Amino acid sequence: MPEFGNFPASAFASRSVLTHELDTEPEVGRRPIVPETGLTRGFKIGGVEIPNSLILAPMAGVADGPFRRICGSFGAGLTVSELANARALLLGLQPTIDLARFLGQPRPFAVQIFGFEPDIMGRAAALVESMGLCDIIDINMGCPVSKVVKTGAGAALMNDSRLAGQIIDAVKRAVSLPVTVKFRLGWTQNTINAREFTKMALDHGVAAIAVHARTKEAGYTGRAQWEQLAGLGNLCGSVPFIANGDIAKPTDIEDLYKISGCRGYMVGRHAIGRPWIFSELLGRPVPAFGMERYEVFRNHLRETIVEHGSKGVGLFRVHLFAYLRNHPGVSAMRYRMCNERDPVVVLQTGREFFLGAPFPDDDVYSIETLKEN
Ligand SMILES: Cc1cc2nc3c(=O)[nH]c(=O)nc-3n(C[C@H](O)[C@H](O)[C@H](O)COP(=O)(O)O)c2cc1C
Repeated sequence: MPEFGNFPASAFASRSVLTHELDTEPEVGRRPIVPETGLTRGFKIGGVEIPNSLILAPMAGVADGPFRRICGSFGAGLTVSELANARALLLGLQPTIDLARFLGQPRPFAVQIFGFEPDIMGRAAALVESMGLCDIIDINMGCPVSKVVKTGAGAALMNDSRLAGQIIDAVKRAVSLPVTVKFRLGWTQNTINAREFTKMALDHGVAAIAVHARTKEAGYTGRAQWEQLAGLGNLCGSVPFIANGDIAKPTDIEDLYKISGCRGYMVGRHAIGRPWIFSELLGRPVPAFGMERYEVFRNHLRETIVEHGSKGVGLFRVHLFAYLRNHPGVSAMRYRMCNERDPVVVLQTGREFFLGAPFPDDDVYSIETLKEN
């Protein structure tokens, strides 16, 4: 299994075949009954209706099917897959195909692919389209991980606009779905070229543009430089411009709109351990601390185990630590849980945090479901 730099080892872990029935969760993936207004109102990417302007960011090792489904249930108008290697897709490698496939996937959904060869990217996009997995193909041009950029893919494409344009052309030629791109401000602080790169992407006819307001050099450190997004919304005109980086609260939406004129808001890390952030940003009620949040946690753990089998507990760890970040003994808890493989212990830890109480006898359902998987 390939290693991808700083992403958690679980980022590219293989997926087990989905075995559960999905018609038992009517709440999940539900679309807003009342159309959103103002900055959170819906928009279109190509012909695809996005019911509101909030998007769950692609996050390898984090934004898997269960997490996308939960974020959708809290109102994310669009979710995006973890980045999938175009070559691996064409080779039919199951773990990569599974990054894009989840039976409970709320729609609309974008599958993100990465690579550096126009022909391979086009063929991989066509394969994804033929599988009927998604509504949008997104091209990654912002990944900073060394194993990706050293091949010339991800953020390296920001240093090669010509190749980036050829990739967009090849993908567009190969599919009928709308094609979008996600990139960063540039490679380094001294070589910021998001504006020129945006123009290039528009010239090649992309259907939407998302920009993470950091450079490749910055990785995930420092504050996102929203000021560098100024004017991009206007530059994009009728093509939706999506701003990304450090969105955490409703006033961020207003501020980002004022600075950039963006049409969409992409939320990443602040949704981890807090998937209800989408409801919060939409001005809807959020689950209260206690039983309501425990239920979110418990369902998330259960779905992760159903989806990933025995690897599920390990893959859930990033979410566990995020849900429990205000745990009174957080460092001791992290130390204790970092190798924990027993789902019942994980559930118990969550229960103690959210409810301040161990399992009652009548929580047999949770325990038995976890044990069965
Ligand atoms: C663990 C992790 C994995 C990520 N994986 C991807 C990815 O697969 N594709 C991508 O375009 N961006 C990826 N990103 C970047 C996010 O999509 C987003 O641009 C970045 O986290 C900034 O947004 P935020 O401040 O809201 O987190 C990843 C980020 C994190 C933290």
